[in-house]
Amino acid sequence: MAAELELHGVNLHFGGVTVLNNVGFTVSAGQIFGLVGPNGAGKTSLFNCISGHYRPQSGTITIDGENVAQVPPARMAAHGLARTFQHPALQLQRSVLENVMLGAHSRMSGNPLTWALRGPGARKSEAAVRAEALTILDRNDLAWAAERSAGELSHGLHKSVELCRALMMHPKLLLLDEPAAGLPHSEVEALIATVKRLRAHEDVTVVIVEHHMGLIGALTDAVVVLDHGSKLMEGTAAEAQADPRVIEAYIGKADDSAA
Ligand SMILES: Nc1ncnc2c1ncn2[C@@H]1O[C@H](COP(=O)(O)OP(=O)(O)OP(=O)(O)O)[C@@H](O)[C@H]1O
Ligand SMILES: [Mg+2]
Repeated sequence: MAAELELHGVNLHFGGVTVLNNVGFTVSAGQIFGLVGPNGAGKTSLFNCISGHYRPQSGTITIDGENVAQVPPARMAAHGLARTFQHPALQLQRSVLENVMLGAHSRMSGNPLTWALRGPGARKSEAAVRAEALTILDRNDLAWAAERSAGELSHGLHKSVELCRALMMHPKLLLLDEPAAGLPHSEVEALIATVKRLRAHEDVTVVIVEHHMGLIGALTDAVVVLDHGSKLMEGTAAEAQADPRVIEAYIGKADDSAA
């Protein structure tokens, strides 16, 4: 079942620096939700709070009503969470297939190397995981890359492999941090098709951080705009793009970087 995500009054500081200021919003089960805002707005930090990598000083983060704000990252898979990272972290020496299989580690103990050394039960589940990883790679047009080492692939393909690895976790809530960054136009179209297929065939709630407004407009039911750690507005992607406060936030940022 797709999960509902609810945030209330989330505050995050590093030393004297306020990174998130009283952030709250609700993502309904099954929605595709956008989190947008200029560089440094706090989008990745908010994902890190949801995934347990950062602990907010105050506020609640609930997944299907359970407060997960202080749950460590390794335990978040049990709450149905999977995520991808703005800067993908793959095992570059290992094959693409093994990287995707690692997504199942929340469901199995050990890793692809130790699975091979265990008894028949482990070998059977390893075979099932391998078959599923191949199916997921195939659905994402990556079957050809299964036996390549991850280090051979382009940055854009690393993002796709990370998405496949996240899908191996059977998430109820999937967080994607800038999945389109660095992708050529044709691959952005393919990514949009992939996320639409997720909506049609998998029971999952998706939150996407993205600067690519074409992708946000094509995919999301609703968006929240963050600026300097605070929620600026909430509405549809079209409403956000037309909102003078949002335009000002982006122009202000452009002025900052020009200065
Ligand atoms: N671990 C940390 N220690 C100190 N400051 C941090 C830490 N993590 C994030 N920040 C600060 O929090 C602010 C928000 O950063 P964050 O990476 O969340 O922004 P973002 O919205 O994801 O930006 P971008 O679009 O560039 O990815 C920045 O000023 C950043 O320096
Ligand atoms: Mg970021």
